[in-house]
Amino acid sequence: MPFKMQKLHMPWTPQGLLFLALLGSILCPPASGIMDPSPEEKRLAWKYPDCSHLTAERGYALVDWPEVRRELHLNPYPENMPAVFGILDKLRGGSAEYDEEARLCIMGIPAVFFFLTKWTVDTMDRDEHGRPDEEAVKKVTVQYSIFENYISALHPGLINAANWTFDDLQIGRLRRQILQCYRQLEAKTANGSKFPPLKVYVYDEVDVPELEPLLRSQIYCSRGQWGTDVQVHDFFATSSIRTDDPAEADFFFVPGYAICVLEGNLYTLDEVDDLYKNLVQALPYFNASGGRDHVFVFGSGMAQS
Ligand SMILES: *[C@@H]1O[C@H](CO)[C@@H](O)[C@H](O)[C@H]1NC(C)=O
Ligand SMILES: *[C@@H]1O[C@H](CO)[C@@H](O)[C@H](O)[C@H]1NC(C)=O
Ligand SMILES: *[C@@H]1O[C@H](CO)[C@@H](O)[C@H](O)[C@H]1NC(C)=O
Repeated sequence: MPFKMQKLHMPWTPQGLLFLALLGSILCPPASGIMDPSPEEKRLAWKYPDCSHLTAERGYALVDWPEVRRELHLNPYPENMPAVFGILDKLRGGSAEYDEEARLCIMGIPAVFFFLTKWTVDTMDRDEHGRPDEEAVKKVTVQYSIFENYISALHPGLINAANWTFDDLQIGRLRRQILQCYRQLEAKTANGSKFPPLKVYVYDEVDVPELEPLLRSQIYCSRGQWGTDVQVHDFFATSSIRTDDPAEADFFFVPGYAICVLEGNLYTLDEVDDLYKNLVQALPYFNASGGRDHVFVFGSGMAQS
């Protein structure tokens, strides 16, 4: 469709985000350490996501992660930011050092970049209309893509159990905040001749709480085989054809990462089925058209005959 092609050339679309993420992984290629830890290191790092296995005797690389985690619990965000900046100051070597630390303590570097990203979003300059500063959005994108590089391989259950003072739900919220910045930037540059004359309303879990279980684990689902569902959601969330007014919508987009939450063992097939049955009943604008203007996405590597 023509509007999709046009979107591909706009800098702050999800495609742009993806480009920057790819750029990030080119600029910060993972060192061989993280790809190939010793079996014992790997076993300990994954067995103790709270990093309690690291002691002074065993030796850390540059950061005392158990102490950092204690500090994060003692001083919740934003009081934890001096500690976060202190760690970044220690790791001036950049990606090679991040990799080395992440090899020993899988949640340490993600925690640092989670709070750094959140801080950048929360403190970025905005103009009198509340629109964010373009440079700040670029910065936050790079920070988020580093965070995503380190955390997207971790199952949401592991992230939550590791208890580094942020959970999967908060990661989802942070991602939405960043997408919202993109949308506001687009509004800044969009001018009268919007094309096509089509409006899409995007449901969210604030209006429809039944969506919440299907939108869990966004970061885990955002890469790899089931990434399509998240990418398409991101596309509509930031699109200039999105409308917040259901009355003017031509289509209604219903986000959900069904196959990923199934394959990731968050829910069984029967549970996913029940979640969708409840969801459809709860969608406030579904019945008006019998669902004909509602768009669902199910990305899968398999087909059922
Ligand atoms: C996370 O750790 C803190 C501090 O040790 C503890 O108080 C809290 O109950 C833990 N939360 C969960 C969900 O385990
Ligand atoms: C508005 O659209 C015109 C033509 O499509 C383009 O030349 C111009 O640069 C746009 N202005 C902004 C602020 O994007
Ligand atoms: C839509 O119709 C179904 C079947 O009649 C009903 O169960 C459901 O509650 C309706 N949805 C809304 C949001 O009213």
